[in-house]
Amino acid sequence: MPVIEVRHPLVRHKVGLLREKDISTKKFRELTNEIARLLAYEATADFPLEPIQIDCWSGPATIEQIAGRKVTVVPILRAGIGMLDGVLDMVPNAKVSVVGLSRNHETLQPEHYFERFVGHLDERTALIVDPMLATAGSMIATVDLLKRRGCTDIRALVLVAAPEGIKALDTAHPDVRCWTAAIDSHLDENGYIIPGLGDAGDKIFGTK
Ligand code: PRP
Ligand code: URA
Repeated sequence: MPVIEVRHPLVRHKVGLLREKDISTKKFRELTNEIARLLAYEATADFPLEPIQIDCWSGPATIEQIAGRKVTVVPILRAGIGMLDGVLDMVPNAKVSVVGLSRNHETLQPEHYFERFVGHLDERTALIVDPMLATAGSMIATVDLLKRRGCTDIRALVLVAAPEGIKALDTAHPDVRCWTAAIDSHLDENGYIIPGLGDAGDKIFGTK
């Protein structure tokens, strides 16, 4: 199962608060980052550790540190920016790669307008962040870009996923795992997730 619904009570509580019709931009941003932290915690649970020796206050001690691949966080513009700080709180040394995609309102296809990747993607774990997995067109396009640059460990963090998007992502990229705070009912005729959050980018940036 490539999409993992995180059922932690804090996540479920916070994603519920995000659904309030008249939520303020401030509250939406705060909750988005809080959930992003919790999703990052779950998505990094299998990172390998290695022992190292340190001078502890009480003398020599062996502690554990994260070994293996370095991380690049990949926000999908615009709305992914809303989750970036939360993930960086948990993985503060991560480098940031940025992908600009905008979903065409008529075709629902992602239109690519920007990309800036860090180097050596073949040596990094990519954590893609975007609040919404609707048709999954934007997520699939971002995974395509990362794979083309040699990235082999790709994980995604989203706030809300639609069953249609989950199926599409699984078909296109069965090796990519995606952690979500909620799996919702379906997409409406305009490609919006129901019950969903509405337009996440507008809510994070205060537009419209
Ligand atoms: C939203 C969202 C995802 C995409 C999801 O972005 O943040 O990137 O739509 O839809 P999909 O799964 O059907 O591709 P949007 O294109 O509206 O742009 P924005 O983030 O700039 O507001
Ligand atoms: N993008 C959003 O911001 N919300 C949706 O429900 C679908 C795509």
